[in-house]
Parts: sequence; C-alpha cells; structure tokens
Amino acid sequence: MDQLNTIDHDLNETMTTLATIEEIVQAKESVFGKKGSLTQIMKQFRDASTEDRPLLGQKVNQIKAKYLNAFDHQIRRLEKQQLDEQLMSESVDIFLPGTRPLMGGLHPIRQAEKDLISACESLGFSMVKGPIIEDTFHNFEALNIPDTHPSRDMHDTFYLNNHHVLRTHTSSVQIRHMLKTPPPLKMLSSGPVFRCDSDRTHSPMFHQMEGLYVNHKVTLPELKYTLDALLKTFFEDDHLIRFRSSYFPFTEPSFEVDIQFKKTGEWMEVLGAGMVHRNVFRSVNYNPDDVSGFAFGLGIDRLAMLKYGIEDIRAFYENDTRFLRQGAPC
Ligand code: DAH
Repeated sequence: MDQLNTIDHDLNETMTTLATIEEIVQAKESVFGKKGSLTQIMKQFRDASTEDRPLLGQKVNQIKAKYLNAFDHQIRRLEKQQLDEQLMSESVDIFLPGTRPLMGGLHPIRQAEKDLISACESLGFSMVKGPIIEDTFHNFEALNIPDTHPSRDMHDTFYLNNHHVLRTHTSSVQIRHMLKTPPPLKMLSSGPVFRCDSDRTHSPMFHQMEGLYVNHKVTLPELKYTLDALLKTFFEDDHLIRFRSSYFPFTEPSFEVDIQFKKTGEWMEVLGAGMVHRNVFRSVNYNPDDVSGFAFGLGIDRLAMLKYGIEDIRAFYENDTRFLRQGAPC
C-alpha cells in the first residue's frame, strides 16, 4: 500500500511539471505501461493477504481514474494548442498570382469539321450519319468502283473479311442515304475513314466530308458556286479556286479542285468533286434520265493543315497537349 501511495504522491507532483506531449506520454508509460511501476506492483498482489487485496485493488482503481483521464486530457489540450499555433504562424499571400487551370479545347480537326459543317448547312445541306464498318456494296460496287479498281487492292483498303471493310471514304453514305430517300435531297456526312497509308501527309485514319445534291436538272455551275462559297467561308478569305479534270468512278465529269493561297500564289489541291455518274443513280434505283446531281468529297485533316499551317498530319494524332492547347476553348 505504501508503494501505491508513493506512486499517487509522485504522480500528483510530476503532473504539474509536464510541459510537452512527449513528457506526458513518457510519464504515463512509466507508471501504467507494460513495464510501468503500477503494473509491476499489481503483479505482486497475489502475495497479499485476502483482507488487503480488495483495498489494494481499490487504490489502484483510484489512481487509474485520477490520472489516466488527466493524462489524456492534457495530451488533447496540447495537440490542439500546437495546431492553433501552427495555423497562426501560416499566412496566405493573397496577392500571389493564381494558377490557371488547364482548359479543354476543341481538337483542330473537330474545329475544322465544325466550321465545314456549318458552312455546308448554311448552303442547305443536312447532316446524315453512316457506319464506319462498311460492306463492299456501299463502299465500292454501288459507287461504280469495279473489282479491278486499284482502291480495292489489299494495299489500300483495310478488309475485315471478304465483304466488309473499314470505309475508305465517306462516299458510301451517299449510297445509304439515296437508298432510303427519294430525290430531291441535299446531304452532307463527315467522319473517320481508313486507308493503309502513313507518312507526313497521310495517316491510316483520317477524316472526310461528303456532300451530295440530287434534283431535276442540277448543273455544273451550281457545283462550282457551292464549292466556291464553301471554301470562302471555311478559309475566311476570297481565294481563287480552279477545277482540274480528273477521274473518279462515281462522277462524270470529275474534277480535282485547287485553291490559290494569296500569300505564296501557290495552288493547293483541296477536294474532289463531279456530277454524279448515271451508274450510281442506277444502283440506288433512281432514274438517271429523270435526276442529276453533284457530289464532292474533301479531307478535313488536309483542310485543317492548310488553314492552320500544320505541316505534319501526325501532329493531329500524337496528343501533345502543347499542340492541342492552341485550339479554341469549347
Ligand atoms: N471519295 C473520294 C476520295 O475518297 C473523294 C470524292 C471525289 C468524293 C469526288 C466525291 C466526289 O463525292 O464527287 O478520294
């Protein structure tokens, strides 16, 4: 009992001198810990007489009740004090410049596509969607592209099986739309197309936009007017354009259209176009003596490269945020 009284007395005194959390934890441990003085004494209780035991137990409980809570209370008080001091010492400089969050922006191809679509829509064309996995009928046969045509070669086309390909152009959507819709119609379609080709100006996946106008007595000057207006709106300038004779199986006559850049005087090819071939009308059950039409197809990536002065098409697909961040915020 004497030892217990001494512990009580000592604790009473040290309690007032403890100033830091470490000191409190240490003092608590030295009495109540596994090897603490109180724990050691309690081990000797078995040797005490039966009368003494309850008294000793009572005293131990008293000591525990008196000091354990007090220790914990002190620790919590000091922790709070430390936190308060830390907060008081930290200051915020409200005049520091803020960090600008990274804003998402439109990809240059998406931006060009959007501009082209809105230019076409203002000329009366309506957007139509078509599948990316296409069958050979819609991608080739119905467009008057025979088996012997080089574009059907395995080198140029990604074949999925004998009858299905990753569409090589958006012209396939013309066929799908005409099969569903009686003339007259004025449609546009855009999206990814695929060809086995890769260098500075060719990517195996790129984007095209297609326009088709079918009506009674559609004429070549209407095609010229449409493309002139479309390119002027897209390039936001009054460039000269010229039509060069060319060949596409699905148009007759066919043209390649060039645009002249004012700064350099250089002519650049920007799209293909022509009057819809009679065989194309036949394959969608239109009467070629009754209707006529024009069509055009352009590479969105190519037009975006020309408009924004990008020299390597691969820059579009490398996802370098320094390049992409130049786009307008969406
Ligand atoms: N489909 C052609 C290509 O991928 C582009 C094209 C040329 C589309 C002339 C047309 C057209 O509609 O009339 O190269």
